[in-house]
Amino acid sequence: MTQQTNWDTVYTDARGWIREAGKEIIASFTTSFSINTKSNPNDLVTDIDKQTEKFFIERIKKSYPEHRIMGEEGFGDKVEDLNGIIWFLDPIDGTMNFVHQQTNFAISIGIYEDGVGKAAFIYDVTKDELYHCSKGNGLYLNDVKLDPLKPITFSEALLAINATWVTENHRIDPRTFSPLLKKIRGTRSYGSAAIEMAYVAAGRLDGYVSLRLAPWDFAAGKLLIEEAGGVCTTVDNKPIDLLGKNTIFVGNKSFHTQVQKQYIQPALDQNFYLRTPSTK
Ligand code: IPD
Ligand code: CA
Ligand code: CA
Repeated sequence: MTQQTNWDTVYTDARGWIREAGKEIIASFTTSFSINTKSNPNDLVTDIDKQTEKFFIERIKKSYPEHRIMGEEGFGDKVEDLNGIIWFLDPIDGTMNFVHQQTNFAISIGIYEDGVGKAAFIYDVTKDELYHCSKGNGLYLNDVKLDPLKPITFSEALLAINATWVTENHRIDPRTFSPLLKKIRGTRSYGSAAIEMAYVAAGRLDGYVSLRLAPWDFAAGKLLIEEAGGVCTTVDNKPIDLLGKNTIFVGNKSFHTQVQKQYIQPALDQNFYLRTPSTK
C-alpha cells in the first residue's frame, strides 16, 4: 500500500538539502574540477553538476523510496509518465556561468504529483536567494512572502531573451520578437533559465522566452510563476509538456496575453517559422 505523503516534511527536507548542496558547491570553488562537453562544445558539464545530482538522489531515495527523480545528468530514473511523485532536478542550471563566472547559476527542483506541481525551489547559490513555494500557499524569497504579480504595460516591461532569438537562427523567425523589443523598457539575459523564471515569478522580470528547454530547466520555474499569478506556455501558447523539450514563453499574465495577441499570433498567421525542439 502506498503511504500518505507528508508534504510539510518533503518541503522541509528539500529546503534543507538545497542549502546544504549550495554550501558544497561554494566549497568546490577552492578545489579544481573537471569540465567536459555533452551534446556540443557549448553544452558543459562538470564533476560538481554530477556530484550535486547524486547528493540529492541519495537523500531522496533514502527518505522517499517511492518517489522518482528526473535529473539532468541521468543518475535518476528513466521517467516516461507523470504517475506518482516526481522530482525534476537540475543540479546546476547555468553551468556555463558556473564555469566562467562562479555566479549566476541555480539549483532547480520542482516536485509534481500525477503531473500537478506541489512544491518548487530555485536556489541562486551565490546570492543565497531561495525562491520557493508549495502549491496554493504563495511564493517566498528566503523567509519573505512576495506579492502576487500585478498587470503592467509594455512601456514598463523587462523581457529576458537571448539575442539568438532575434537574429538569424533556425528555430524562430527573428521578426516574431524583434518588433516587441522596440516597445518594451528593456531586455536582459542571465544565462540560467531557472533564475530567469524565478525573476519572472518575483516580478523582477515580466517575461522570459526560450526556444529549447527540458523539464528539469522549467519544472520548478513553472510552478513558482503560476503561484505568483503568472502564465507559462509554449511560445505558440500551448500547454507545456512536462515530459519533453519545449519552447517556453512565461510571463506576468497581462504581458503574456498582450505579447501573444499583438506579436506571436500575428507572426504565426503570417507563417513566420517556429520550430519546436523535437523538430530537426
Ligand atoms: C541551460 C541554461 C540556459 C538555457 C539552456 C539550458 P544548463 O541549462 O538554463 O540558460 O539557455 O537552454 O540548457 O545546461 O546550464 O543546466
Ligand atoms: Ca538547465
Ligand atoms: Ca544543468
